[in-house]
Amino acid sequence: MKICCIGCGYVGLVAATCLSDMGNDVISVDINKDRVNNLKKGIIPIYEPGLKDMLDRNAREKRIVFSTNIKEGIQKSEVIFIAVGTPPDSNNCADVSAIASVAEDIGRYMNGYKIIVNKSTAPVGTLDKIGKIIKSVKTKPFRYDLVSNPEFMREGEAIKDFTNPDRIVIGVQSEKAKRIMSSIYSGISRTDKPIMFTDLRSAELIKYASNAMLATRISFMNEIAQLCEKVGGDIKAIARGMGLDTRIGPRFLHAGIGYGGSCFPKDVKALAQIMKLNGIEPKILDAVDEVNEQQKRSLIHKIRKLVPDVKGKSVAVWGLAFKPKTDDMREAPSITIIRQLQELGAKIRAFDPEAQHNASLILKNITYCKDPYSTLKGCDVLVIATEWNAFRDLELKKVKQLLKYPNIVDGRNIYDPQEMKKLGFNYLCVGRKC
Ligand code: UGA
Repeated sequence: MKICCIGCGYVGLVAATCLSDMGNDVISVDINKDRVNNLKKGIIPIYEPGLKDMLDRNAREKRIVFSTNIKEGIQKSEVIFIAVGTPPDSNNCADVSAIASVAEDIGRYMNGYKIIVNKSTAPVGTLDKIGKIIKSVKTKPFRYDLVSNPEFMREGEAIKDFTNPDRIVIGVQSEKAKRIMSSIYSGISRTDKPIMFTDLRSAELIKYASNAMLATRISFMNEIAQLCEKVGGDIKAIARGMGLDTRIGPRFLHAGIGYGGSCFPKDVKALAQIMKLNGIEPKILDAVDEVNEQQKRSLIHKIRKLVPDVKGKSVAVWGLAFKPKTDDMREAPSITIIRQLQELGAKIRAFDPEAQHNASLILKNITYCKDPYSTLKGCDVLVIATEWNAFRDLELKKVKQLLKYPNIVDGRNIYDPQEMKKLGFNYLCVGRKC
């Protein structure tokens, strides 16, 4: 199948690479010339395990090419995936102007039957909008089909999630589009991992509702963790006890310092906004968002329990990315925590295995260190903000020696509180007795 994938951001690049790996001929298009030139040289703009190898292999075998020429991309392809950014606008709605501009290009340049697949996270009704724009721009009576094919990949696990998804959701309007989309995904759909066909609007809503549900689970657990801190109980045991109920399941029940990233914070707010615009008060979603903001801010109280006045004190921060296995700093809880500490006059020493460059563009006046141990030098407290595996197996005796005082605030519950106590640390974590 000849596919044009518009947008070389996270979703676009991973989708284009995986689609080429599945045997399709893919033209991956972006308006950002530097990004495209780098991609042509094999330099990828994001850190995603496995992506570079897969990309290099398919580029070598000429199944994927990069271009800024959207006209050529559209005209040479039968299926066009739209995977451009939908950042929040000033009202927290998803800004779909990039999608609208791509739709205009598709209408202007189409030269035959096309399937137009939206993969960008966009409000319900966006495909109707795309259809209207194409109709208003196209000058010849070419036929086309609209498809909604939301993406459920996680950063850090994107290749695995794309090639081995729990489900593939496809909103379609015609049998022809259904047939063609089935054949594109035939390599990865199995009876236990089904393709689910539905109408366009349901597919658009499945994406928002899924992210919002996962974010709701996290905020719910963070609220239960707050209760544990008041009345006792161990949030890890509670999550396990709840997760063993097959109706609940164990995933996305980890309490911590709040969810971040480019999706949950934005999508929860955007879905709430869609509800408001339709006269529904988004009581649950507003609470999910509020609990999350509260949770991000809550770590500072724990830090001040151990170091009441942080002014002039050195604080070590392990982990900056919004989660492990990514260099993405978007909406990372570490930003809130570090800014709070800096406002109170603390000096920050920080380490992250992958996100230091991106962090340095956002967080100023920080000493970025070369490894976890050197970060601790002369610090009054260590704060753990991202649960990278590299932090789990360190020599805790050495950590104690390097810190000025044995204080640790663990926002990700990576250590055992009893063990930490035995080792002589003042250890505070989330929703667990310490
Ligand atoms: C999320 C969804 O999981 C994907 O299915 C979706 O495709 C993607 O958004 C998107 O819309 O593009 P992602 O943002 O990469 O993926 O990250 P997650 O692994 O879902 O984590 C999001 C945040 O929740 C992180 O800050 C993480 O630390 C936090 N989290 C996750 C918890 O605090 N507790 C948990 O139990 C799980």
